[in-house]
Amino acid sequence: MAITYRCTTCGKEFESAEGFAGRPVQCDACRQSAASGPPLSDQTLFVSLDQIRKQKGEKEEPEAPQEEGRAQTIDVSFKQIRQEEDANVEPQPQGAMVAPRRQFRMEIETEEDNGGPSVLGDTMVASAEKRKPTGLKELGVGIIGVGWMGQKHAEALADIHGARLVAVADAFKETAERVGGDFDVDFYVDPRKLAQRDDVDCVIIATNDEAHVQPVAAAAAGGKHILLEKPIATTLSDADQIIRLCERANVKLMIGFILRFDNRYARVQEAVANGEIGELESIFCRRTNLVTSQERLKGRVSVLSFLGVHDFDMMRWVAGSEVKRVHTEAVWNLHRKHGFDVEDTTWTLLRFENGVIGSLETGWVVPTTHPTKADFKLEVTGTKGMITYDLTRQELMFTTEAGHYSERFNPMLQYQLEHFLDCVRNDRDPLVTGIDGRAALEISLAAQQSAKSEQIVPLPLT
Ligand SMILES: NC(=O)c1ccc[n+]([C@@H]2O[C@H](COP(=O)([O-])OP(=O)(O)OC[C@H]3O[C@@H](n4cnc5c(N)ncnc54)[C@H](O)[C@@H]3O)[C@@H](O)[C@H]2O)c1
Repeated sequence: MAITYRCTTCGKEFESAEGFAGRPVQCDACRQSAASGPPLSDQTLFVSLDQIRKQKGEKEEPEAPQEEGRAQTIDVSFKQIRQEEDANVEPQPQGAMVAPRRQFRMEIETEEDNGGPSVLGDTMVASAEKRKPTGLKELGVGIIGVGWMGQKHAEALADIHGARLVAVADAFKETAERVGGDFDVDFYVDPRKLAQRDDVDCVIIATNDEAHVQPVAAAAAGGKHILLEKPIATTLSDADQIIRLCERANVKLMIGFILRFDNRYARVQEAVANGEIGELESIFCRRTNLVTSQERLKGRVSVLSFLGVHDFDMMRWVAGSEVKRVHTEAVWNLHRKHGFDVEDTTWTLLRFENGVIGSLETGWVVPTTHPTKADFKLEVTGTKGMITYDLTRQELMFTTEAGHYSERFNPMLQYQLEHFLDCVRNDRDPLVTGIDGRAALEISLAAQQSAKSEQIVPLPLT
């Protein structure tokens, strides 16, 4: 079957039925000119483990045992390798800590991320598609909070031209130091120090949901534009404070609602907005992750906030309307038995002001034996048609003589970052604002209130 790829060199789309195991994703013309031209520059490639070892002069090691049928993605950026090999260390600004250099680090993502913390499973970082050189002024980026998601941002940044990770900050010194070392950048414990650096133009904040205000305050005080991970906050008063802080400092605030940068969701939104299915009547979505999620999250947040908020924002976007009533039913069973006061599963019904109804099923109930470890769905129905996406399979898995690997076609985290950087560079308004973040949070809080009170909750919340 021929598959559409985007050439990592010229950016044009082309079709191929062969796959690109261990080779750059390039159209025929670019492949031929690369064969006769200069060596590969900063290309992100899918490279086999053995190839990398040879390149690094390392000895072969036995591969880590894999469960049968589980795909491994070996995703290595040559840029990263070069950075690792580069012996020049730039002078460090005062107060910055320099992490010890670590050995070459290779990312191996399995399909299972034990807990599926991501709304998108583990498909956010896509490197089959290399971002084209832009020739634009390079923006310096800092990341505050470099746990699971902060590191995903750092990895995605490595493949974006026109932006460079300059420093990271994390409340846990060990984390800051380890990640600073991995990405070969300065690290801080105090986000204010990162935000005061002249070479930082903007920051990504990926601290825990309830710890967003302080890093936003630090970044805004330093005059840095902000990409803030969802949910904007865990209370409306924190959300209001965050919006105010950014307005007063005159810095951009974008919320990381990554579904808006998933081209399947964007296509659905566009189709609905264009009237391709007539008048929209209803939206159904499902976002369920692994039952083992609490091994990582430890009951720290409601699923309606952690996962559901993505779909609440997406449904507002697709419906083009605000929500006026929320009704949620929830089951608290398994996770409570393990000491975590979070829902196993929730069903939420929304009524929008324009008459559309929406429903979301979200929970942490997917068995670990599930083939894809997560179940995501979207269905929209209008007066003249419907669109259905089963998002469970978000990637194509190839099996060739070189092994089996996955190619991912929708580097939505990169799209999101590029949009944010474009807004910073060209003084544009982000697609997702603090107001959007607040609106989705309000629906999520109403859903949590409804689940507990067993009552329908009208919006706005008082
Ligand atoms: N968009 C997505 O698909 C997606 C996926 C997962 C998580 N997230 C969001 O990303 C954020 C981080 O989640 P995570 O899963 O990476 O959590 P995590 O616990 O893995 O990482 C959070 C990090 O923030 C640090 N931190 C906490 N408070 C801090 C502070 N005041 N200053 C500096 N560092 C601080 C912690 O030490 C930790 O290392 C959350 O808002 C979460 O909802 C988004």
